[in-house]
This record gives sequence, structure tokens and C-alpha cells, in this order.
Amino acid sequence: MEKPPLPAARKFVDRIRALYAQNLEADKLWAEIRVTMGPLLADPQLIESSKTWPLTVEGAPKVKNLLFYEDPDYGFVFNATVRKAKSVTSVHDHGDVWTLYGLIEGHETMYRYKRTDDAPRNEGPAQIEQVSCHDIGPGDVDAVPPGAIHQEHGGPENSMAFIVRAQKAGTFKQRTYDLETGDVRLNDGPTLIPHVLS
Ligand SMILES: [Fe+2]
Repeated sequence: MEKPPLPAARKFVDRIRALYAQNLEADKLWAEIRVTMGPLLADPQLIESSKTWPLTVEGAPKVKNLLFYEDPDYGFVFNATVRKAKSVTSVHDHGDVWTLYGLIEGHETMYRYKRTDDAPRNEGPAQIEQVSCHDIGPGDVDAVPPGAIHQEHGGPENSMAFIVRAQKAGTFKQRTYDLETGDVRLNDGPTLIPHVLS
């Protein structure tokens, strides 16, 4: 896939590729990518562009992502969401791949959970406990490690986020969790909408 036309996003692709080429441990790699995301999120052209993106998340279960880029060699992808104000997602994970969720505009609250049972990961029944909750605003990056269980709550206004994932949604399974029944469901993640980032 061609690099996105937006200059700051092209630069971000080059920086990530240079980091992958160093063969870092995954934790270190994603910590470094997170640092290099700062200038992108502050880029005036990206902020302008995000104002034209269509609404993608209206709450569970209707989740879509814009797809800007998939790297032909390393497989990482650039996505985006426009989250409806006050919407609440399912409790879910992003499968066993890294995600960096960088907010461009608006505010969100991220709830974090952990599993306390020994049932099979993909089957359950799962016992889930909330462990934390934190607010994010423009320029903040929420790092979601492989398997981390969470829920996103939209703020008082719609919010836009730029997302880096280690793999394209649909190439691995993600899980949603029912807190009351312990039901674990596998799914292919958000529906992808190819979009030119310019
Ligand atoms: Fe999520």
C-alpha cells in the first residue's frame, strides 16, 4: 500500500520502519513508536484533516475504523476513529497485538480490566474485574498491549483518534467480554473503511 499523502504521516511511516529495522523487543519497539507519535498528533495538517473524517464509532456493536496505510514489509497499519460523544464500547481486547491509540481532538475515558479466572482464553466463562480508569485528551497516547481488556467511553463531544496497530484488523481474532455472563466472543474487529489521509 502507498504511503499516505499527508507529509507528517509519511514521516511517521519512515520512523516506524527504521525502528522495526532495529529488531527491538516488542515492548521497547512500541514504547519508541509511542514517543515518535507525539509530533504527528500535534501536526496542524493532521488536525485539519481529522475534522473531515466520517463518524466511525457510535458505541457497541457498531465499530468501524478508517484505514490509511498498511506497511508491505512489517504489517503495521494506520487507522482512525471518530467516536460519537458519550458512546460506550463493549468490554474488549484488541487480540494479541499492540495498539497505540492517539487522541487528536476531544476527550475519552479508558476503563481497564483484568481476568481472574483460569478458563480457556477464547471460551470463558471469564471473570472480569475493573482495575483502573483514566482520562485522555488531545496529544495523549493510550498504549494497549496484546490481550489488554478495556472499554472506551466517549467524552462530551465527538473525539478523533489516530491509531497504530501491529497488524491489520481481520488478520487476527479479537475478544469481547460480557461482564455479567462471562461470555467470551471472538470477532474480526472493526470494519475497515479505506480512506486517503491527505
Ligand atoms: Fe479498544
